[in-house]
Amino acid sequence: MSFIEVIGGRPLSGEIKVQGSKNAALPLLAAAVLHRGESRIKNCPGIRDIGNMEVLLGQFGCRTRREERTLIIDASDVADGIVTGAEVKRTRASVLFMGALSGRGRHAAIAYPGGCSIGERKIDFHIDALRKMRVNVEEKDGTLCFDAKELCGSDIVLKFPSVGATENIILAAVLARGTTRIQNAATEPEIGILCEFLNGAGARISCRGNSITIEGVKELRDTEYVLPGDRIVAGTYLTAAAGTGGKVRVAGVRKEELNSLIAVLREAGCEIGADAGSVTLAAKLPLRAVSLATAPYPGFPTDMQSLMMALMCGASGESRITETIFENRFHTAGELARMGAEIRVEGNTASITGGGGLTGAEVTAGDLRDGAALVTAGLFAKGRTTVRDPEDYIRRGYEDITGDLRKLGACVREY
Ligand code: UD1
Repeated sequence: MSFIEVIGGRPLSGEIKVQGSKNAALPLLAAAVLHRGESRIKNCPGIRDIGNMEVLLGQFGCRTRREERTLIIDASDVADGIVTGAEVKRTRASVLFMGALSGRGRHAAIAYPGGCSIGERKIDFHIDALRKMRVNVEEKDGTLCFDAKELCGSDIVLKFPSVGATENIILAAVLARGTTRIQNAATEPEIGILCEFLNGAGARISCRGNSITIEGVKELRDTEYVLPGDRIVAGTYLTAAAGTGGKVRVAGVRKEELNSLIAVLREAGCEIGADAGSVTLAAKLPLRAVSLATAPYPGFPTDMQSLMMALMCGASGESRITETIFENRFHTAGELARMGAEIRVEGNTASITGGGGLTGAEVTAGDLRDGAALVTAGLFAKGRTTVRDPEDYIRRGYEDITGDLRKLGACVREY
């Protein structure tokens, strides 16, 4: 359990460099399993989700070590094994070991994955795709057992462009016999990063729009990859600055990955500039209300939804936020109501009547981005806000949210 205490009302200003991307790093840790040797991931963030994946890698014989900000994974000896324990439940990305261990031709059993409590988060697309690739998958008492002796390429059409399913199929296909084609694949930047990393290690993957072709190869080679900055962490600091009427420069991000957020922030009245590796934002309060719906990339990211909801509490007028990706992602609305927000949730749409402002209160993080949104709400609110984080969700994805915000002038501490 950790607590973050925020005293609101100070405009953020200054420059911050964002940590390496969590959602890009996690699939690379799984991808490293495919290579009988070393993979080096530079700019790898020091967050709990990565630590959990390292524990799981150790369960089937991979060794990891850090040299400053580089994570080195040695997968020379991968054993058949059981991937289990609290880390599986805590880290949704553990599901990617299904594809990676299948690619290594292993028998394995993996406990049903967990992650944030933001919806049902089924894995039927993953399992159906692996079965099409002749992996034998059976579910017994919450454990998925699979055997990939017969693994081979296949044509797969996803019903929905699931990020995790696309990654799992790529992982299984890299060393499979024959060619795999994925249609209606996810196009999130993290998919491109996974393909770049694997191609650097000798894989043969080509992406064209939402189609991905993977020609199986016999083996991979040692590789090194520099992770780009985390687009959601960057978005967190941009919205935090926007809601305080601040002026910041967020460095270490690719602007194009933030286009949908930038468009919404501009509509709300923020001035935004960008160069190759950074985004600047200047805001004057009050912001204007905006409406948006989350969507697969390049649409508005669901991971920014709760942060946007917190931001809109101070905007003038009524905003509407529609969540189309996850079915249970409005926990933030209830917590913001404790801070005086007026939010009506009907089905998958939340209507926020802004302008009344927020007042500090004690609130509880229900998932990673919800926790971050509540911290930013504390920055926008009058007085003191305490964010209780019973499961340490925020540290799953943010290396040092309080240190970063302090660099930008916020009055915030963690204990
Ligand atoms: C990833 C990200 C997460 C982000 C999400 C959507 C990581 C570690 N996590 O999660 O931060 O919010 O993409 O951009 O990268 N679905 C099914 N069956 C499946 C798979 C998915 O019905 O087999 C549904 C899910 O329940 C959800 C939707 O598809 O409603 C999107 O899920 P998906 O894109 O798979 O998200 P994740 O990969 O879990």
